[in-house]
This record gives sequence, C-alpha cells and structure tokens, in this order.
Amino acid sequence: MPSRISDAYRAHPVDLHRNLPDFTSLQELPDSYKWNHQFDDYPSTPVVDSSLVSESVPVIDLNEPNALQLIGHACKSWGVFQVINHGIPTSILQQTESTAKTLFSLPLQQKLKASRSPDAVSGYGLARISPFFSKLMWYEGFTVFGSPLHHFRQLWPQDYTKHCDVMEGYEKEMKKLAAKLMWLILGSLGISKEDVQWAGPKGDFADAFPVSQLNYYPACPDPDKAMGLAAHTDSTILTILYQNSISGLQVMKEGVGWVTVPPISGGLVINVGDLLHILSNGIYRSVLHRAMVNRTKNRISIACLYGPPANVQISPLRKLVSPSQPPLYRAITWSEYLGTKAKYFNQALSSVRICSPLHGLANVNDHNDNVEVG
Ligand code: OGA
Ligand code: NI
Repeated sequence: MPSRISDAYRAHPVDLHRNLPDFTSLQELPDSYKWNHQFDDYPSTPVVDSSLVSESVPVIDLNEPNALQLIGHACKSWGVFQVINHGIPTSILQQTESTAKTLFSLPLQQKLKASRSPDAVSGYGLARISPFFSKLMWYEGFTVFGSPLHHFRQLWPQDYTKHCDVMEGYEKEMKKLAAKLMWLILGSLGISKEDVQWAGPKGDFADAFPVSQLNYYPACPDPDKAMGLAAHTDSTILTILYQNSISGLQVMKEGVGWVTVPPISGGLVINVGDLLHILSNGIYRSVLHRAMVNRTKNRISIACLYGPPANVQISPLRKLVSPSQPPLYRAITWSEYLGTKAKYFNQALSSVRICSPLHGLANVNDHNDNVEVG
C-alpha cells in the first residue's frame, strides 16, 4: 500500500465537515447551491456552443500509425483529447459504472458509513475542492486508493467481494492504458525509455499507483444555476476519464471559452495534469475543466488519476531544458505537490514555478488551477 500520498492528505486535512445532503429529497435548488456564474466560479467565460466551434476536442484512434503526433498536437493545443481503440474492454467500463451506480444509489446513511475522513484519500464525500468555493457543488464522490475492502464491507456487507473485484479489474486495465499513453505522450516530446528512470526496468511504471475517483452528479432541478464540479486542473500527470452517454464535462479553450467534451461511444477522455505540465516544462498545459449537471439524468463519471510513484522528484525533463529553455519549475514529488495544492489551490502550479509570481514576477502562462483530488 503506497503510503506517501496518504501522508500528504494527513498533513493537509481538508475540512469537509459539512453534512452531505440527500439529493433525492431536494425538489428545489437551495440557495447554497445557486452559483452566480459571473462571480462564484472561475473564469466566468461564456459557454461556447460546441457546434459553432470550428475545432472540437481531438478524438484519436490509438491504432492509427500517427497517433503519437496527434497526441502531441492535442496536448499542446488543448491539453485534452479523447481516445478510441484504447484496448480497455467495454465490459470492464460497464461493470465499474455499474458498481458506481449501485454505490451512489445506496441510502445516504449507508454511504456515510464509508465517509472519507478529512485526512484520508479514500472514501465517500464531497468534492475535495469544496472548501475553496463559497457555493456547494451538486456532486457526490467516492475515492479508491489501495484496497477498497474496508469501505466496501461497510457499504455492502453481503457482496463486497464482487465490487472489490470490479475495482481491481478496472485499476489493472487503467494502469496498462496509462503506461501506454505515457510513452505516447513522452514520445511526442522526444523522450525515450532511457530518460525516465522511474518507469522501472520494464518501462511499465510498475510503481505508479493510480487513484480511482467515482463521480456522481444527480439530476438537478435547476441545472443552469448549479455546478457539478467547479473549475480546476488535476494534480496528476494525466487523468483518464470515462463518461458514459451523458455530457457534462467542459474544458477551457484559450481564446474560445468553455467547450463541452461530448461523450463518444467507447471513448475515454485524457487530460494533461499539473505534473505533466511540469515534466514538459510548460509545453503541455494542464487543462482547466469543470462538470455541469443535468435536469433529468443522473450522470456518472469515473476518473483514473494517474501520477508518479509518490517519492519520485518530478521536474522538467532534462531533454526539454537548455540554456535557451531554462527549467520553469522546481523539482517536487507528487505527495509534496498535493500538499502545495491543498495550501495554495489556485496558485499551486505558479508556486512551484522558478521565479514564481509569489516571489514578485508576473507569470502569464499559469492559469488559475484549483485543488483537486489526485
Ligand atoms: C475529476 C473531473 C469531470 C467529470 O474527477 O477530476 O474533473 O466530468 N471530473 O466528472
Ligand atoms: Ni478533474
């Protein structure tokens, strides 16, 4: 069981003491959930009708011979892309979705038995970014890090084994896909296996332990005023997101605004996280994103938050640094970064920047990034 990530949460407990609501009993949106989109969320850019945007988030077929180039271009221009033919069996994704569905439809009292304590990674609760916003999010989440056995036993005293097996199967597949994506992304930066020691002798990133995040956005009586998950970037290297057939995810496209990432059958969304932003020396930008809610449909998404082994120092890759391209970020471990995020949330990336704005120099490249699990 990897301990260092847990240490980061223990050192920076997030106050999530507010009780979770029973969304099913709310017929009207309470004021505490009404976001004034002009003031409460960041940035208050209008949503762009995706059909009017000439470009849309790239969809990349991993079997295509030029997938590497397409991924490089997508990381640079969007910080996000969708993949198809990724090799994850549909049944694995469907089973995980079904476990998530079963979990979130349990009575609230039952779910609270598996609550995430403020200093822990795993368990049921509000979005970890909640304390940084004055309004509440129309959202429930369940985080799995290491074995979910203890929590699943509380949730399903009878058939917890089945759900544990599902999560194990999901993580195994995600780890394989993440390693494949890592080499495609790193390859697109001209990085080869010899350049990344922590990929391990087989180059399969065996020591990386992803965090699995089950997200639930119940149907909402007033979706235009509500917020599912407020704008943030992920504290990961990359995030692999499964969204079934219900849209909600939006990404910030510079110079355009919020663009919806439409769910595509069999597709997975891949987004650049803060640690890839650091590794690539700012070439691949971590993308600001958020999740909106739906009036009639409950939406479920499942995120694999992928980072390096907890004690590995992440810094701009040596091959990407030269006298004309000095390193923009100092070295930091994943667990240290999570602590930084918990403290500076919207300024975390800037705070690890060499000559960061916190030390007096303006930095136009780092966008506002809010703290996020992972
Ligand atoms: C996340 C996230 C978006 C979604 O889990 O970090 O951004 O659509 N989720 O659920
Ligand atoms: Ni996210």
